[in-house]
Amino acid sequence: MPLPVKKPTFPSLSRRELLRSMGIMAGGLVAAPWLASCGESSSSSTLEVNPDQSWWLQNNFGPVFNETESFDLEVIGALPPELNGVYVRNGSNPQAGDSPHWFFGDGMLHGVRLEGGRAAWYRNRYIRTEMFERGVDYTNSGPPFAGNNQSNVSVVHHGGRLLSSGEVGAAYAIDPDNLGTLGVHDFEGKLNTSFTAHPKIDPETGNLHFFGYFFANPFLTYHVANPAGEIIHSSPISLPHSSMMHSFAITEQDVVFWDLPVHFAPSSSTTPGFPYAWQEGAPARIGVMPLGGRGDEIRWVEIDPCYVFHEVNAHRVGSEIVLDVCRMDRVMDGQPLHAARQDLRRWHIETGGTTLGFREEVILPRALEFPMHDKRFTGRSHRHAWLTGFRENPGTLDPAGIVHLDVTRGSILGEWDPGRNRHAGEAYFVPGGRGEGEGWLMTYVHDHSRGTSRLVVLDASKVSRGPVAEVALPQRVPHGFHGTWVPDSA
Ligand SMILES: [Fe+2]
Repeated sequence: MPLPVKKPTFPSLSRRELLRSMGIMAGGLVAAPWLASCGESSSSSTLEVNPDQSWWLQNNFGPVFNETESFDLEVIGALPPELNGVYVRNGSNPQAGDSPHWFFGDGMLHGVRLEGGRAAWYRNRYIRTEMFERGVDYTNSGPPFAGNNQSNVSVVHHGGRLLSSGEVGAAYAIDPDNLGTLGVHDFEGKLNTSFTAHPKIDPETGNLHFFGYFFANPFLTYHVANPAGEIIHSSPISLPHSSMMHSFAITEQDVVFWDLPVHFAPSSSTTPGFPYAWQEGAPARIGVMPLGGRGDEIRWVEIDPCYVFHEVNAHRVGSEIVLDVCRMDRVMDGQPLHAARQDLRRWHIETGGTTLGFREEVILPRALEFPMHDKRFTGRSHRHAWLTGFRENPGTLDPAGIVHLDVTRGSILGEWDPGRNRHAGEAYFVPGGRGEGEGWLMTYVHDHSRGTSRLVVLDASKVSRGPVAEVALPQRVPHGFHGTWVPDSA
């Protein structure tokens, strides 16, 4: 039976604080590959940046305004005929054409339907959130809660539903047949917290594990939904502050949170538009609680201050939890975001004692983001991961190609460089064979010299061979965040 969850109570905030907070809630907590590349890049950058214009409004970060559809698209190469379904990806696309930050745009979905080796259609659609329908920007929309969010970060397919998430606020249900917005999805009224952009599906039970965090109490709440998409468990977790939590991890036994020193603190924010700020001297902690457990069962261990948006995956080895993360040294501390240093690390969390133990090691000293794994192995020991690389460019994010890692050895199994003028996004893994890592990767790739985009399909086990197929799209697809695959068989 679900446990009762308190409705959030808003703290005493000034209007200015509230307005500032809305920016972060509207979408500012997404993946942050603004990371300075501290390793090699797949090729040198040819992307020019106008320093007089915000980088997120130019090149392929800028919005598109047409909602279009196109049928029977040109395919270069051969699409695997067993791929039958819709690839859909979310991203920030301000309908006003302007925004104070890359993350503060209305959610826009870009989808391609594949069937029997054909690319049947492409569509892009704004998500009809309350904010979008009112046509106002986030600074006029009140505190983000329930449907009042931009729903611009991710999409997840569970319980027969395609849901979009803006991280803070409720999910929106989407029709995968046409990318139309069906409306706010609050799990039949049982979800009265936010819906994270990074929920996890337990591959054994089919349960959806997720959380909501907020800048008011309760700061963090854990939820479980069954395979039918019904919430069967909710439990608040006590925190002394509102911590910016973009993702979390599960194993077959555990839920793992990271409470890092970026807190809701509008008065100390040094990042325009963000009410969250780096808190010098505040502890960084990892929390572990039983899968499906209660918030009062959580145990914490302190670690060195850092920031992590995305984990690769986690699993158990006996009493130890192994958690691989894209670790940044610090963010939102007044330094340019591209000054953050990043590498790929393995966190070892020992759970067998009366207190948790912790140690970490660098897996790969390279800035990579948008980690992806074979989601049939979520929470389980695995070998394969795919991440997006970035080129050195002081003026903008400059995404490059796809890197295939063996996380057990920290070695690169393959890398695809899309070419000097081309830029890939998150590579979403679609299973194609029985073994771990057997399947396909899908990502949108933009060519800035031509102003065009393509859907690219790679063999996940042969990334360095390059695409098996590219689908020519009728308009460019701006760089976005996270996607998913909706198979016909689901
Ligand atoms: Fe993310």
